[in-house]
Amino acid sequence: MKIGIDKIGFYTPHLYVDMNNLAVARGVEPEKFTIGIGQDEMAIAPLTQDPVTLAANAALQILDENDREKIDFVMFGTESGIDHSKSAAIYVHELLGLSPHARSIEMKQACYGGTAAIQLAKGHIALNPESKVLVLASDIARYGLQTSGEVTQGAGAVAVLISAEPGVLELENISTFLTKDIMDFWRPTYSDVAFVDGKFSNEQYMAFFSEVWEEYKKKTDLTISDFEAICYHLPYTKMGLKALRTILDEGSEEVQKRLSENFQASTLYSRKVGNIYTASLYLSLISLLEEQDLEAGSRIGLFSYGSGAVGEFFSGILQPNYREFLSVDTHKDNFNSRTEVTVTEYESIFQKTLPIDGSTMELDTSQDPAPICLSGIKDHERQYINKHK
Ligand code: COA
Repeated sequence: MKIGIDKIGFYTPHLYVDMNNLAVARGVEPEKFTIGIGQDEMAIAPLTQDPVTLAANAALQILDENDREKIDFVMFGTESGIDHSKSAAIYVHELLGLSPHARSIEMKQACYGGTAAIQLAKGHIALNPESKVLVLASDIARYGLQTSGEVTQGAGAVAVLISAEPGVLELENISTFLTKDIMDFWRPTYSDVAFVDGKFSNEQYMAFFSEVWEEYKKKTDLTISDFEAICYHLPYTKMGLKALRTILDEGSEEVQKRLSENFQASTLYSRKVGNIYTASLYLSLISLLEEQDLEAGSRIGLFSYGSGAVGEFFSGILQPNYREFLSVDTHKDNFNSRTEVTVTEYESIFQKTLPIDGSTMELDTSQDPAPICLSGIKDHERQYINKHK
């Protein structure tokens, strides 16, 4: 039985800031951000979008009535969750009107949470081939204004439907993974911004990639030439490029060209969104599939990394007619209907937060084009609306 990605969608909020303008405001050369870091635009979440609404808006695009009935497991990977106890999956389960006969949980391991959910979903489908699992990966990356991590912020979510006989990508069974207790990036429960040792996190990302890639080749007897493309977790697009460059010379000139071109295609969406932590790897997969015309049967490699740290390399095979299962037009519309904000406006949005003292706040959702929005907070409870209901 084949198990894998049946459908895949994403959502990014309607506001963004241009990285050239951010660079000027921060007194650095724009090329540092656009070439050195490799980002063009950064998505900004208004207060009416949080990780729950972003995930629900992503899932809304891909689910039909049959999926809603068959989904019996909702897993939500995030590192910017809204509650220390209740899972964000339950809110999305309700907002999407899924069958009540489902499990709903949240997964946490930094940017690796989405991958952890996908791997567990495979096991669930193996035991229950008739069911479907909804995996959500959703984050708002916040390092803080005028910090070195500021340029690697972003906001957005990916929704992945895992099933038997998948439409898009069969996930192969062999994967290699690694855990090491390191402090490269973390967010203590009392902080709403991340702590990061940027240079160390870069080194560890590369070291983890090297180790799981070498192990993968040993386990599978595959070589770099067996891959049509490799997608990377992209905290910023230059990071993935650096990792790819370490293995390119393992292939012929033709293989190097193919992997480099497909890598560029896989970064196009991330360049416009920024870091979305758990969802970043899957945004690169969507970008690759929607921007390139790859042949069915091609093998795609995926490298997942979550600081702290866990890394994994795995792969999938593109299915016949996979393009019919993508949401290309919806995603183009999402990008084309965004509004650019100035750096001053971005700073002001960044500083607006929900009250944490129990007071009530009502939010104006009329300026937010997303169907599902956060409409306020009352008695410590977030209030959500689906404008389509
Ligand atoms: N034109 C082109 N490139 C330029 C440039 C210019 N004018 N000025 C600088 N650069 C390049 C640098 O050479 C460097 O490239 P390199 O990494 O290939 O050497 C890159 O831009 C970044 O410059 P650097 O001085 O290292 O940036 P920084 O000290 O501001 O930090 C991060 C960058 C990524 C470490 C920082 O943004 C961060 O901590 N981010 C969060 C952590 C993260 O995302 N970790 C990833 C692993 S999960």
